[in-house]
Amino acid sequence: MNSPVPLVPSLEQVRAQFPALSRPTAFLDNAGGSHLPRCVIDAMARYMTEHYVQLGGDYTESLAAGANVAGAHDLVKLLLNAHGAGEVVLGQSTTALCHLLASCYAQAPRPDRNEIVVCTAGHEANIGTWMKLAERGWVVREWRAERDPAQNHTWRILPRSLRPLLSERTRLVTFPHVSNILGEIVDAAEVATLAHSVGARVVCDGVAYVPHRAPDVQRLGVDWYVYSTYKVYGPHGAALFGTREAFAELEGPNHSFIPRERVPYKFELGGVNHESCAAINGLWEYLCFLGGEASLPTRTPSTLSRDRAIIERAFGLMERRELVTQSMLIDWLCSRRDIEIVGPRVSGPSRVPTFSFVVPGRSSRDLATRANRQGLAIRYGHFYSKRLVESIGLEADDGVVRVSMVHYTSPGEIERLIAWLERSPD
Ligand SMILES: Cc1ncc(COP(=O)(O)O)c(C=O)c1O
Repeated sequence: MNSPVPLVPSLEQVRAQFPALSRPTAFLDNAGGSHLPRCVIDAMARYMTEHYVQLGGDYTESLAAGANVAGAHDLVKLLLNAHGAGEVVLGQSTTALCHLLASCYAQAPRPDRNEIVVCTAGHEANIGTWMKLAERGWVVREWRAERDPAQNHTWRILPRSLRPLLSERTRLVTFPHVSNILGEIVDAAEVATLAHSVGARVVCDGVAYVPHRAPDVQRLGVDWYVYSTYKVYGPHGAALFGTREAFAELEGPNHSFIPRERVPYKFELGGVNHESCAAINGLWEYLCFLGGEASLPTRTPSTLSRDRAIIERAFGLMERRELVTQSMLIDWLCSRRDIEIVGPRVSGPSRVPTFSFVVPGRSSRDLATRANRQGLAIRYGHFYSKRLVESIGLEADDGVVRVSMVHYTSPGEIERLIAWLERSPD
């Protein structure tokens, strides 16, 4: 029997899932945080109404609460293709999870491997906390973004520049999968291969990647991968994947009587946010809708490959939709001699639809706040990638103008923005 052909929802059907999109604002600040589909909001409210109890009891509601927390870990594993490779820790934010990881490494020093390479072109969440290891005697080496003469002198994070920074003493390499300013996808598999060739581990910040593509941590070969759930159509919170081998080297900070082997719980101080777990579980319904499922399939250990295929179809649709709007904007930006794009001047699969630019002689702040008054939700600044913005030679507080889209962004919203930029008064 043939399997049913997936139903591909239209852009209108997709947008109708997001209550916030019925507002007149053209929301182009998605790299800051995405909107929520109705099913995610409902799942959280339902959980708080029906099962808002502690874990560990054998009564109905407590068993359901336990299944809710386990289900959220499981969905994140599916999203990252992590099943069988390692575990997922849920936490308050990517910043908090990077701090947690750095403090665990600080407690597990290895005198023969006391060097760390930190890519300083990413978000500060995956930089500052690692830099602090220098206070404990670690040697920190900076891997910086640079202009690539082969690509129009675009600012890029190049794996080839990592190579000379590595040695047999390198313990870790930390880097972004995508910079939240530049928008270009870094070849994380190449970074992992380079780091592993000297026996180092990698910590990849996937925050700016996961809203657009479902990473496959096994194919990438990364040891640690972290992202923020509130940028992926979900609740405030974050998730950290680690391989079994990477976790085994560290002792989690949870209570001393909790055995070291109890991962992820040993790394989830006091437990996780249950209502956020409910919202993460609610995302499954939305991904099934995007993936063209006519009904809501139940996830079980025996349906892993079918479930991952649904995720890949859902993110495949996101990517196709994003290509339309990102091309519209980049074509217009490239046609303007008075605008300097920060990041690759290309559309296509090598980037995500996060665009930063400056208009020489004009303040980014002024431009963004004027646009905001017209219902165009864009932003300006350094977006906590302060070191990158400064190294580009910009004044950090004014920074860049950033326009960031996701799959629900409509061509009409981009037309509105372009029309306003065309006539925006000096
Ligand atoms: C690329 C990137 N990494 C890390 C973070 C920090 O995430 P969180 O707010 O969850 O700490 C952000 C937030 O904007 C980000 O864009």
